[in-house]
Amino acid sequence: MVVSATVFGVLGFQSLAIAQDNPLDGRSQDSTVTLTPTEIGLIKSFGPWPMPIPPDPGNELSGLAWAEALGRQLFHDTDLSGGRDLSCASCHVSEFGLAENLKTSKGAKQHVRNSQSLLNAGLQHWFGWDGGADSLWAASLRPMLSDIEMNADIPVVAKRYRAKPVIKQSLAHYTDIDELSDEAFVVLLSKAIAAHTRTLVSGITPFDRYRQALLDNDKDSQANYPDAAKRGLKIFMGEANCHVCHFGADFSNGEFHDTGRPFFTDVGQIDSGRYSGIKRVRQDPYNLLGRYNGTQQDTERRKTQTVKLGQGNFGQWRTPSLRNLALTAPYTHDGSLPTLRSVVDAYADIDPARLHSQGESLLKPLDLDDAAREDLVQFLESLSETVSD
Ligand code: HEC
Ligand code: HEC
Repeated sequence: MVVSATVFGVLGFQSLAIAQDNPLDGRSQDSTVTLTPTEIGLIKSFGPWPMPIPPDPGNELSGLAWAEALGRQLFHDTDLSGGRDLSCASCHVSEFGLAENLKTSKGAKQHVRNSQSLLNAGLQHWFGWDGGADSLWAASLRPMLSDIEMNADIPVVAKRYRAKPVIKQSLAHYTDIDELSDEAFVVLLSKAIAAHTRTLVSGITPFDRYRQALLDNDKDSQANYPDAAKRGLKIFMGEANCHVCHFGADFSNGEFHDTGRPFFTDVGQIDSGRYSGIKRVRQDPYNLLGRYNGTQQDTERRKTQTVKLGQGNFGQWRTPSLRNLALTAPYTHDGSLPTLRSVVDAYADIDPARLHSQGESLLKPLDLDDAAREDLVQFLESLSETVSD
């Protein structure tokens, strides 16, 4: 079965249907996959989808329609980059689920990390694979100022955008940009971009339809969900324990874990993940404790006030959402796993000695044969939208 490397959701789902009818695949012939009440309860917890996206913390433009529209334009504008050659959309490509099909990003310089999907990013509390930003707007300003990514700076961006009549006009009812410092003006642009990013939510998937059919006790619709995916789902929330970190409707607990992935980069340096992320977020002048927090709510600031650095943070990464995986290969923070099958193999064959921080007692080698691993892949693919959605 050549299913693990499919790039588009629609192909992945077609191959699910083929797998079900394939007389050579003995496992797929069995049409009765039974669920225990505990399993049904867990399946309910993976929804409903879509779920409401909270406001972007510290972003006074979050949720304002005019700011979302302006942010959408800016997202596609190469004038945000020093060389006028890169926009946000260069590395967050809609065809690839607002991620990229490269192992690691190439901006003004070579990046050591894989581009993250921006779909459903607004559900997270920490941004970046290492949680180095505490709001979407700070995570949107960072790429502009990073010499690896867009390689611009505040004066350059401010000068370019002050000169655009359309910017002045679209902000006129809100503020007079001539009264703002360059820094405050560029922060405002990044908040408009984040207002747009927050609205990027992925659609209904075959899994969501199956979950709904279970809730409705609609046996006909339940039968549309392939048995292979059902078996994979049982493994996911059973012996493999995947749901402990990939939980809820977004399949992410938003927390940081060590899953034994390498922390040496391609160029032999160390990327310490959450360990450097905590340092970054504390030093970030645009964090929620800084002067550009536009709402100043204590509840928003608390996470940044209280985050603690420990040795255990070394080699930890944020648990990614598992929605729309079929579009976002390759996988993990360094893009080192090219296919979903390779992700499943990495978990199943994990070497506990590689868990380099305090060790994740949740992860242990899994006794899964080839067919069971393919089932898990089928389940993961069913978390992606199909083109007909
Ligand atoms: C050169 C490629 C590149 C460009 C250009 C780029 N990004 Fe990214 N983006 C990345 C990479 C790589 C990451 C992961 C970074 C990390 O872990 O620190 C990322 C992460 C993010 C995140 C965090 C998502 C999450 O779920 O935590 C946001 C938000 C984001 N980018 C928004 C933007 C915006 C807005 C722009 C334009 C202003 C932009 N990016 C431009 C490559 C890029
Ligand atoms: C201890 C928490 C934890 C458990 C348990 C866990 N994961 Fe993960 N998962 C993570 C983290 C953290 C990452 C990111 C690792 C990295 O970037 O190096 C990840 C990455 C992934 C990715 C890559 C997604 C992407 O966008 O790059 C997939 C797919 C995945 N996990 C599926 C699974 C499956 C299937 C299981 C069960 C076999 C599982 N996970 C168990 C925490 C966990």
